[in-house]
Amino acid sequence: DWTPDVFVDASVEELKQQLGNDKVVLGLSGGVDSSVAAMLIHHAIGTNLYCIFVDNGLLRKNEFEEVLASYKNMGLNVKGVDAKDQFYKALEGLSDPEEKRKAIGKTFIEVFDQEAKTIQNVKWLAQGTIYPDIIESVSVKGPSATIKSHHNVGGLPAKMNLKVVEPLKTLFKDGVRLVGKALAIDQKILGRHPFPGPGLAIRILGDVTAEKVRVLQEVDYIFINHLKTTGLYDEVWQAGAILLPVQSVGVMGDERTYESVVALRAVASVDGMTADWVHLPYEFLSDVSNEIINKVKGVNRVVYDISSKPPATIEWE
Ligand code: XMP
Repeated sequence: DWTPDVFVDASVEELKQQLGNDKVVLGLSGGVDSSVAAMLIHHAIGTNLYCIFVDNGLLRKNEFEEVLASYKNMGLNVKGVDAKDQFYKALEGLSDPEEKRKAIGKTFIEVFDQEAKTIQNVKWLAQGTIYPDIIESVSVKGPSATIKSHHNVGGLPAKMNLKVVEPLKTLFKDGVRLVGKALAIDQKILGRHPFPGPGLAIRILGDVTAEKVRVLQEVDYIFINHLKTTGLYDEVWQAGAILLPVQSVGVMGDERTYESVVALRAVASVDGMTADWVHLPYEFLSDVSNEIINKVKGVNRVVYDISSKPPATIEWE
């Protein structure tokens, strides 16, 4: 029978055999999957695992600093790399979602490649790929070519001439969380909502600027904090805010305003393949909306997304 402890023991043993004294590089994203993959490999090979955590400037507010500190606490051999400007530059003027994803993927590879090169004799690239990632990547090449090119599998290993190790590739998300728990990873990391690799760039519809990122970070922060303080965070599979490329009219005192609209999205799901919008209480939505409009300059309207997947996807891009 599958239990997380048995999985951990067997995987650690297998990784020891497979990796020996080789050096392994892994990109941490702050998410559950890469964190659990890292800890599993760390148990097998210790400091021969070199982790790289890139700040792409598209993470949630304060996330990079907080998560980097947690990683260090976990004993991981991790290097934080500030590449914000490189990503903003690569995104300049791009508004097509796939173009944005490609630019982010390409920049990530450049930054990662540069960092990985500074590690002598690295042989392996570890990835936190899980089972649904493989399914969704395959479907990208299938008949519906318009499905998003989600995951940056491929490309990187060939370019860097590395062998790939993916210790979580047979697991679903809930399995990954159980394995993470067995490895005593902080609940703050394990309980996190999934967050897309391209981050806030695909929640800013249209072109991305540092200023739009800042606005969306503030909005998202208020929303997520309210979910946490009301105990709703753990009942939601994924939540976030979307900055719409529209301005709407509002009033402030005697003045007419013409400012941005944000949409809030919260979904219930098992694996992200299908999802239902969460019936958040009106009181909750009201409090969040008031705080956003009062505190975030440049936003004068908040809407709530009541669409389920399919046909609406979780992300808007
Ligand atoms: P959709 O929007 O397709 O999202 O319903 C399903 C899940 O995938 C995440 N997602 C992404 N994750 N790179 C990622 O790493 C991407 O480009 C990407 N697009 C969507 C989304 O956040 C949700 O969890």
